[in-house]
Amino acid sequence: MADKSYRILRIPVLNVSCYLIYNETGAILVDTCNRGSGEKVMEMLGHLKLETASLKLIIITHSHYDHAGSAAEIRKLTGAPVAVHRNDADELRNGYGPLPDGTRWKARILVALGRTFLKRLGNIPPLEPDIIVEDQFELDRFGFKGRILHLPGHTDGSVVVCLDGGDVIAGDTVFGIRGHEIFPPFADDRMALLESWEKLLGLPFDYLYPGHGARIPKRALLDEYPSARARYGKQD
Ligand SMILES: [Fe+2]
Repeated sequence: MADKSYRILRIPVLNVSCYLIYNETGAILVDTCNRGSGEKVMEMLGHLKLETASLKLIIITHSHYDHAGSAAEIRKLTGAPVAVHRNDADELRNGYGPLPDGTRWKARILVALGRTFLKRLGNIPPLEPDIIVEDQFELDRFGFKGRILHLPGHTDGSVVVCLDGGDVIAGDTVFGIRGHEIFPPFADDRMALLESWEKLLGLPFDYLYPGHGARIPKRALLDEYPSARARYGKQD
């Protein structure tokens, strides 16, 4: 795999992680964690001795509250533009990302409980995105070799960030919770997600960095794909 001209810092906040990709020219933030995480992200920028203005871009992998919750706050703090896929943009504008369906029974129960008792769970501070991503969006002009790719399934507008050094910041396209399947427990469209996994498998990379849990080697995705296809690739 190509030499890396960047580093990645995982920023865990409660049960979710956002990621700073950085080099000597600046940084990109992928996701923003839950509402109220702005201070933590600013602290991490300071820890890396990066100026506030060195944050060039905020990428939202999808519009769920635990990924987009601090987008408006961090944009206000840094002035960095917010990029999101066209299909999740209205959720940011409206300040609400609906809970996705469960892909397995425990998750279905959680979703049913959430939809019944926590109706405000999907609320996020609304914002008008600065950049609308379509199928692909190159990151060269922000100082990094790589691109945002549309890989729907978890939500209709889910994206991943592919860096030429062999790393993919994956949002909720995969889950990295130890001892569990990496196929997400939540997804709006399982078939679309399986197709996205196929596309992902065709890409050159070493590691996936999920929104939940630890990084995942490509081998794990290759190993799980056939059973995921068998288990989730049929309609209920
Ligand atoms: Fe999500």
